[in-house]
Order: sequence, then structure tokens, then C-alpha cells
Amino acid sequence: MTDEKFLITELVLTAHLYNQSDKLTVDDLPQKIRKHYWDEKEKTVKRPMYVTEGDIKSIYGIENVKNSTKLLPFLEFEDFGSQIKLNIFDLAIKWVTKHPEAVENINKNPVLASFFENYDSLPVSYKKAKASILPKESGREWINSLIKTIESEKGSEDMLKLAHIVAPEDIQQNISDLVLTKAQEDEIEKMTKAIQYRDYLKRIGLREIGKLLFVGPPGTGKTSVARAISGQLKIPIVEVKLSQIADQYLGETAKNIDRVFELARRLSPCILFIDEFDFVAKARATDEHAALKRAVNTLLKAIDEISLVEHGVLVIGATNHPNILDHAAWRRFDEIVEFSLPDKDMRKKILDLILRNIEGTFDTEEIAKITDGYSGSDLRLIAREAVLNGLITERTVLTQQDLIRGVAEFNKRTHLKKLDESA
Ligand SMILES: Nc1ncnc2c1ncn2[C@@H]1O[C@H](COP(=O)(O)OP(=O)(O)OP(=O)(O)O)[C@@H](O)[C@H]1O
Ligand SMILES: [Mg+2]
Repeated sequence: MTDEKFLITELVLTAHLYNQSDKLTVDDLPQKIRKHYWDEKEKTVKRPMYVTEGDIKSIYGIENVKNSTKLLPFLEFEDFGSQIKLNIFDLAIKWVTKHPEAVENINKNPVLASFFENYDSLPVSYKKAKASILPKESGREWINSLIKTIESEKGSEDMLKLAHIVAPEDIQQNISDLVLTKAQEDEIEKMTKAIQYRDYLKRIGLREIGKLLFVGPPGTGKTSVARAISGQLKIPIVEVKLSQIADQYLGETAKNIDRVFELARRLSPCILFIDEFDFVAKARATDEHAALKRAVNTLLKAIDEISLVEHGVLVIGATNHPNILDHAAWRRFDEIVEFSLPDKDMRKKILDLILRNIEGTFDTEEIAKITDGYSGSDLRLIAREAVLNGLITERTVLTQQDLIRGVAEFNKRTHLKKLDESA
């Protein structure tokens, strides 16, 4: 826990330096401070930034601000408005330099680092501080501001209703929580680089990049990987299900598709995740609905027109039924990423990963052997059953028997489901 006096001084000094220098941007403020002072309408932290007792309480949870500041001769507590002012700048700087926690904290605060790297001989750097914090675009408050702006425009309600938007900081599973094939890992790596080097790609005119189709049976990690990429790249993900867009009023479908793409452009850089892509094929197969066909054409055209390099939108389609997609749909994507049911080795790895925080003695190799044809999601359900089996007898230490029972119960359930489906 950082010293309260240091935190207060850091905030007052950060505000002071931020107010003074127009070279510093809102991206240089540490997240905690940025979030607190965020102006939703202007989408920035406005200058001048003031520091009051209430600000300190709400940012750091420090209760007795007055007591702490009394001991700092360079701060002045203005009773009126309870604003805290920096009185003697040089003294504050000296005090910070001598503080044992200075280096560690300055290296996480680009505003301070930009000042202190040219001052004295503290081993701090602006670059390092900058690398330690997230850009404003990945914060929930940035996305909320954008959504608010969009909401305030006429006719925008429909656009927002169609998609589910997730901020990268809210993503639960990251890449390391998933067991991936080498091909999947390579693809993620490529896209990460493509987004980083967008300007370069634009310059050399390489535009045919950034449209992926994830193909594979249910529960093999397509949605999870798309989200994990968003978490890794620190960009939001806009998720849509094609069947939902086409719901109810068919006449609106084409318009809805345009709305979703428009939303993605507004949120860029972002990922646009289009789930149930096979819907396109189904729609083409029916000849009753001219409106639906029009919608599909709109979708294919929209995919053609959007680009990662130009607009900062990475398009990821996902489907369980690749066999029904026609050539027109396939050729929109520059990479096809396969999500197969995991083989024995992968199943073992997935089980090890799922069970990594669970105490007990069990042999995942053996479970992997008896779960041929199971998806990652099935394995998760088995693990859940096994844990619950243990809990029934008040055990939090898992046994092999619990896992085997988990498999049996899972089988029983899928059997019932199949009966239901064939009925
Ligand atoms: N390779 C894997 N490694 C670890 N967990 C996995 C893997 N595959 C699937 N899972 C887990 O299974 C669950 C379901 O996965 P997810 O929803 O991503 O599948 P999906 O391919 O999108 O399925 P659907 O086609 O039904 O939409 C998630 O909790 C995910 O973590
Ligand atoms: Mg999915």
C-alpha cells in the first residue's frame, strides 16, 4: 500500500503538471485519475484539473485528507471549497524525489515521468510509464462516452439495440485461459501485429487483411477467442448475431446491417464479431424473402467496404456450418481459422487448465481418453459436475471418481437432449 501522503502529493502534482503542459494528453494520466476526472461529453479530462478532499477520498479511499496534508509544507488546504493547492513547487519535487516509493510510482504515471526523467537522476522514463498504462480507448468510460454520444443522436436507439458491446477491461477470459492450436495462435499473432502496424500497411497499400472466419462445432472456443483477442489488443468488441438482426421486421434487416457496421466504425479501433454467419446461406436458400436476400447482399457489401487498415475494424465471422456457405460468402474472408473438436492431447490440456485451481488427486490423461468427441465447453461442464459432486458430500478436494461421474452425468444429459431433438 502506497503511503497516503505520497498519493495525495502525486495527484496534486499530476494535476499541476497536466494543467501546465499542453504536450501532455489525457492518455498520459494514470487510469485511476483519468477515470475520476473523465468528462463524458468532451471525452477527455478537461483543464484545469482541481484537487479537492472529495477527489482524494473517491480516488484512493483516503478518509482523513486534512491530517495527511498538514504534514506536507508544500500543500495548502483551502478551507473554502476544500481545494488542495500546490504552494511551493520545488519543495514538492524534492520531497517526491526522496520518497522511497517514488521510482516505482513515477514509472506508472506518464505525467510525472515526463517531468522527472529530465530532473535529477531518478531511474524513471516516460516511455516505461506510458507502456504501463492503457490508452483511453480501452477504458469502459471511453466506450460509455461514445455510446452516450451515439444515443443522443436521433434514430440511434435501433443501432445500439442490435449489438452487444464489451469493453476490453471487462473481458473475463484471456488468451492464456484457452488452449489453442498453433494455427490459431499464429492467426492471433498476425492480427495483433496488423493492428499495431496499421499505418505501415496503409502506406504500402496492403489492405486485404483483417477479415477472419472462425469455423467449427459449438463449444470449441470461437466466441471466447474473439473476446480474448479484444482483451489482448485492448480494443472493444461489438458482437452481433445475424439471426437477431433479421428478427421481426424483415424490411428493416438491410438497414440494421448498415447500422451495425456504422456502429463498429464509430467505435474503431474495434472487433466486429458476426456470429451465426451461416445465416447468410440459409437466407439465400429461401426464395420467399426478397427482403432477406437484399439484406444478405447488404451484409456482403458492407464486409467488402470495411477494412482493418482503413477503418480500424477487424471483422470476425463465426459459423458452425461452414458446409452451407457459398463461394460469395467464403471469398469475403482472407483467413479461415479452424476450430476442431480437441484431440486427446488438447483435451488433457484443457482439463488441466480448467482444474488448475482445484485441489485433489486426479488423472486428466485418463479423462481425456474417455472423452473423445467432446468440446472444450463439454469439458467445462464435466468439471462443473465433478466439483458439485464433491460439494454434495462437503468435499472441496476433487477425486478421479468425481470426474468420472461428471462424464457419466454429462453423457446422460446429452442423451436426453438428443432424444428431445429427435422428438
Ligand atoms: N480450446 C479451449 N480451451 C479452453 N476452454 C475452451 C476451449 N474451447 C472452448 N472452451 C470453453 O468452452 C466455453 C464455450 O466456448 P465458446 O462459447 O467460445 O464456444 P463457441 O465456439 O463460440 O461455441 P458456439 O458455436 O456454440 O457459439 C467457454 O467457456 C470456453 O472457455
Ligand atoms: Mg460462440
